Amino acid sequence: MAQEDLFKKIIAHCKEYGFIFQSSEIYDGLSAVYDYGQNGVELKNNIKKYWWDSMVLLHENIVGLDSAIFMHPRTWEASGHVGAFSDPLIDNKDSNKRYRADVLIEEYLQKIEEKIEKDVAKGIKKFGDSFDEEQFRATNPNVLRNKTKIEEVHGRFVKALEDDNLAELKQIIEDCEIACPVSGTKNWTDVRQFNLMFDTKLGSLADDASKIYLRPETAQGIFVNYLNVQKTGRMKIPFGIAQIGKAFRNEIVARQFIFRMREFEQMEMQFFVRPGEEIKWFEHWKEFRMNWHKNLGLAEDKYRFHKHDKLAHYANAAFDIEFQFPFGFKELEGIHSRTDFDLSQHQEFSGKKIQYFDPETNKSYVPYVVETSIGLDRMFLTIMSAAYTEEELTKEDGSKDQRIVLKIPAALAPIKLAVLPLLKKDGLPDKALEIINNLKFEFNCQYEEKDSIGKRYRRQDAIGTPYCVTVDHQTLEDNTVTLRYRDTMNQERIPIEKLNELISESVSIKKLLKKL
Ligand code: GAP
Repeated sequence: MAQEDLFKKIIAHCKEYGFIFQSSEIYDGLSAVYDYGQNGVELKNNIKKYWWDSMVLLHENIVGLDSAIFMHPRTWEASGHVGAFSDPLIDNKDSNKRYRADVLIEEYLQKIEEKIEKDVAKGIKKFGDSFDEEQFRATNPNVLRNKTKIEEVHGRFVKALEDDNLAELKQIIEDCEIACPVSGTKNWTDVRQFNLMFDTKLGSLADDASKIYLRPETAQGIFVNYLNVQKTGRMKIPFGIAQIGKAFRNEIVARQFIFRMREFEQMEMQFFVRPGEEIKWFEHWKEFRMNWHKNLGLAEDKYRFHKHDKLAHYANAAFDIEFQFPFGFKELEGIHSRTDFDLSQHQEFSGKKIQYFDPETNKSYVPYVVETSIGLDRMFLTIMSAAYTEEELTKEDGSKDQRIVLKIPAALAPIKLAVLPLLKKDGLPDKALEIINNLKFEFNCQYEEKDSIGKRYRRQDAIGTPYCVTVDHQTLEDNTVTLRYRDTMNQERIPIEKLNELISESVSIKKLLKKL
């Protein structure tokens, strides 16, 4: 299936099955803002729990925080967001569509990369086992030409970003003959910087003094509370503070569903370390976070590291974990070594000393910080993209059928068990409810009595429920039910009292955490 079609199907599926709705849809929606429905909120809560427990529960030296969305406006001057939290934008004069100049160039480079991979794939197909891929990549004229092009454009691009050279960004777009995907023309405006922070007024005074911002990242709430947590928690370096919360960015090019939103959620952890030890910890967290993703067993080959082309002036190392979404490899999470920049800035702007006395070295210093920062909504989209599966089935009579199944890891699935009475009579619904009433304290169960059993199985497959049990007349006689497994569709007859033991273990986040 074409990846574009797959993405459209995932979006439609999210709506049809109560995962994600457009915000204020009855008023025609609000662009790049989304609501999570009855199944979406369960999946989201499970992702949060997997992240939170893996950070806070599993690490003696990491504690949590829930800081406010509104912060003193000086916070954002100190952090640099007021001056420099902006994207380079460019408009196409014919379509009036606005784009991020850096994204246009990155997508152009990605397309050339894809051309190379296509040539390689053709070679493999044509020559099979005798194909020498390494030699082909080193000698094929098309591949070499494309490689040179990538290197040349990439070099200019990195330099333009480093120098904040907006004119050069435009020149690259013109030189590469990048066209607007809507109008198809190359009639571009100049590139301009656009600040991404939303502001609002605090109190009733309409002057500038009362202007405050909706936080564009949760991290600053952690930095300004560093001293509070360190002192009241008697934390010793190295230690971390973790937080999950909303962030807001006035994204100009807000497309790709929940990939780029104006209101979204972040899961961030700042790890405070001794200066000079930050790279060691950076490597540690890079590996830990990649394992956290792969531990879900979704699609190992769809993750990769991407080294930042342009390091922020305060960072001394930065990598993204990218996932292969239906629209290509894109950033899912950032791991950054932020030096002592943020704490030093807050020290300077607040006039309060932010230092740590290290009893091992007998020295005071401003701690260095390694940050892991992941978008909860992007993680949601990752799971949806990897889990959405269309399967061709052959029925008993030989005819073909199709099912859509979300192969969400059981521990993250919104509903763990659906209990389905075969008929709406003969005491079967009561028996089904009795099973739910016994198990609902252990995991999320759902009762369903409408439509045929086959249709009910399909509905549960479509929301990723790993287990269904059917209650029939035999159940009333011998207290057994038919247990059906989502992925294999296998069924077995088991005693009701075995259900808890059989399901609890496999749907618990504990199982995932133990593998980390
Ligand atoms: N404190 C560091 C920070 O905020 P970032 O790379 O700007 O770094 C971190 O954001 C993560 O937040 C990204 O990797 C992404 O997963 C998520 N994110 C950023 N902007 C987003 C948006 N507009 N919509 C959804 N998720 C976003």
